[in-house]
Amino acid sequence: MDTFLIKKSEIVKVLTMKDCMEATESAFRYYGEGQVQMPSKSYLYFEDYFGDLRCMPAYIRDLGAAGIKAVNVHPDNHNAGLPTVMATILLIDPKTGFPLAVMDGTHITNMRTGAAGGIAAKYLAKSKCDKVVFIGAGMQAETQLEAVMIARPELSKASTFDIDKERAQEFAKICSEKFGLECTVADSINEACQNADIINTTTSTRKPIVMKDDVPKGAHINAIGADAKGKQELDHELLKVSKVVIDDWAQASHSGEINVPLANKQLKQSDLAGELGKVIAEHSKIRSSDDDITVFDSTGLAIQDLVTAWHVYQLLIKNQKDNMQPFDLFA
Ligand SMILES: NC(=O)c1ccc[n+]([C@@H]2O[C@H](COP(=O)([O-])OP(=O)(O)OC[C@H]3O[C@@H](n4cnc5c(N)ncnc54)[C@H](O)[C@@H]3O)[C@@H](O)[C@H]2O)c1
Repeated sequence: MDTFLIKKSEIVKVLTMKDCMEATESAFRYYGEGQVQMPSKSYLYFEDYFGDLRCMPAYIRDLGAAGIKAVNVHPDNHNAGLPTVMATILLIDPKTGFPLAVMDGTHITNMRTGAAGGIAAKYLAKSKCDKVVFIGAGMQAETQLEAVMIARPELSKASTFDIDKERAQEFAKICSEKFGLECTVADSINEACQNADIINTTTSTRKPIVMKDDVPKGAHINAIGADAKGKQELDHELLKVSKVVIDDWAQASHSGEINVPLANKQLKQSDLAGELGKVIAEHSKIRSSDDDITVFDSTGLAIQDLVTAWHVYQLLIKNQKDNMQPFDLFA
């Protein structure tokens, strides 16, 4: 058997956001049907270096795929010319445990995170959306943008706010040049969110920055940034009046948008509206009117990485094996 080393440049060539969204939606469906093995992420905290490392294993029996991702989050990496998030994925043959591929997981992480936001917007946002907002204009914002434009092609306006105004300006350029959106750079979160139909929060803040009064009736929020214990982007008063859909209870209660309000007893498990996997698998309806505020609390699931990595592996190895160089890991 062969082990393949799959670099980002190879992945970029074959992985489209549309395919990643299809794979991600199937991962949530498998999860909603109870067909996956996925222990919660485990964390190492590098307190001295303002960063952490997570380990994310998953097995989907029906897909015949298993794997594990190691991924860091170091919010100050921008200053060192490195991405905040970097990852490596090991794809394993569940029949023997043989390592099929060692893959770049950074691009896959960014793509599957965007894809989950797109899928959440498809199922949870109101029927007609015109304006999309990005609080935080970094790496994850770019893939949220790409996916939400596939899920909701009717969007025509955008606004963005970032504490780094230059990043917001660069991001606004992408919105208009790549997607034809009329995009403004706002001076505050409140200004950005005026008339918003979809809001994506992708910052690494540890204290709430989006307040109840910032969010108009009917908006859907993809809360992406809070993915470790103690992180929170949305104020608990906003969560209280919203229909909150999580990706996974164990992860969300430990490290998602809801982790701090749960710990502070400002929110209870019974306040939550559902899980995205169940919404997809059981066709359940979360929104009862166009005035509801919906929130998708994304912590990022190992199955999202697995289905995306598996899809890329199939395309590269099964279809283009002649172009790929295997290596003998046990030589
Ligand atoms: N839910 C998931 O599946 C998932 C996946 C990947 C990353 N993340 C999380 O998403 C966050 C962003 O990741 P990234 O790769 O885009 O990082 P990034 O560093 O590329 O971008 C973050 C952006 O947020 C801005 N920002 C920080 N604090 C802010 C504040 N208070 N107000 C406005 N803007 C602010 C920064 O200036 C930066 O432009 C991280 O917290 C990361 O852990 C979540």
